[in-house]
Amino acid sequence: MTETKIDHVSLLIRKAIEEESSGNKNEAARTYKAAYKEVLEIASRSTGKIKQKRLEQAANLKKIYESIGGEAVEEDRISEGKKILGTLNIEPPEIPKVTFQDVAGLENVKTEIMSKIIYPMRYKELSQEYNIEFSGGMLLYGPPGTGKTFIVKAIANEVKANFINVNPSTLYSQWFGQFEKNISLLFRAAYLLSPSILFFDEIDTLVPKRSGSESDAARRGVSQLLTEVGGLTSQKDRNVFIIAATNNPWGIDEAIMRPGRFDVKIYIPPPDYESRKKIFQLKLSEVKHIDHIDYDELANKTERYSGADIEFICKKAVQNVFMEVIKTGNKIDVSTDDLLEVISQIRPSIDAGLLRKYQDYILNL
Ligand SMILES: Nc1ncnc2c1ncn2[C@@H]1O[C@H](COP(=O)(O)OP(=O)(O)O)[C@@H](O)[C@H]1O
Ligand SMILES: [Mg+2]
Repeated sequence: MTETKIDHVSLLIRKAIEEESSGNKNEAARTYKAAYKEVLEIASRSTGKIKQKRLEQAANLKKIYESIGGEAVEEDRISEGKKILGTLNIEPPEIPKVTFQDVAGLENVKTEIMSKIIYPMRYKELSQEYNIEFSGGMLLYGPPGTGKTFIVKAIANEVKANFINVNPSTLYSQWFGQFEKNISLLFRAAYLLSPSILFFDEIDTLVPKRSGSESDAARRGVSQLLTEVGGLTSQKDRNVFIIAATNNPWGIDEAIMRPGRFDVKIYIPPPDYESRKKIFQLKLSEVKHIDHIDYDELANKTERYSGADIEFICKKAVQNVFMEVIKTGNKIDVSTDDLLEVISQIRPSIDAGLLRKYQDYILNL
């Protein structure tokens, strides 16, 4: 039985060599990989020295097909990564459409992200030559609706990385050992899908500050996460970036802030005057029937409104006008007054007390 299998492996290798010499890289890689899988299979049924020999042979075959590369191997890698995400109930990865140009303001945040993630990823060899080290993970924090999730999507777009959006609740499991296992699987998927950005939104729900009353499962999950992040950080030719976001930085387990973990922390503030103007302009840019809008007036009237608030205001004002058009049949333009009216009806989602809380937090870092 084993003999015939080995014969089959030899056959595969011969075929792979033929394919390679006739320039069919993909087919060669695919065939070497098939041979590798069979040898591994045989090894698992063998013992002692023979097993050892088979394992070495398998490792060699693996090296060969990896060095040939080939789209086929690439495809396998990606489909395996996607399969894992599927088992974790995480949406398939995608390269987001949002770009840095869609993000209003936050100029120093963009600069920091450029220097810490985008350039090192884009100019990999150069950054190795200059021994630019990748940091561990990056934590974005700030009031709700200020564009944290939005800017991470833009980062993924800039570096053409797969964006893996992790919702903490899908990872959590009370089954013994399952939570840690899910976390390991997730990092494995991120590696298979690299270049990738593994994004933990609302990380405070995944790693809440220790209260002493958390379950063992939760505690082990956190320590697994720390191990995985630390492991990634020590890789020189890294292709997986970890970014987390929270509205609630004071509610996170401090262990994840240590060096080599989520040690780059960036505050995402509410939009300033110029940014608010820009957000209004961006969100109304696709509306065809629009009057000459007084953006300064809108920015003046929206202090402490978040980007998400402004987006809502624009949608609501346009919707109101649209309903009017449906009723009268007259294509009227959206005006500054239509927007001001909605602003007067909704309250800003960021209040002074909340801002003070962030300021205190920053001072105590
Ligand atoms: N600086 C900004 N520039 C452009 N749009 C923004 C900005 N901040 C927020 N938004 C809009 O608000 C929406 C919600 O932002 P989001 O990233 O989900 O906020 P957060 O994650 O900080 O709670 C975004 O989808 C985007 O349309
Ligand atoms: Mg968010």
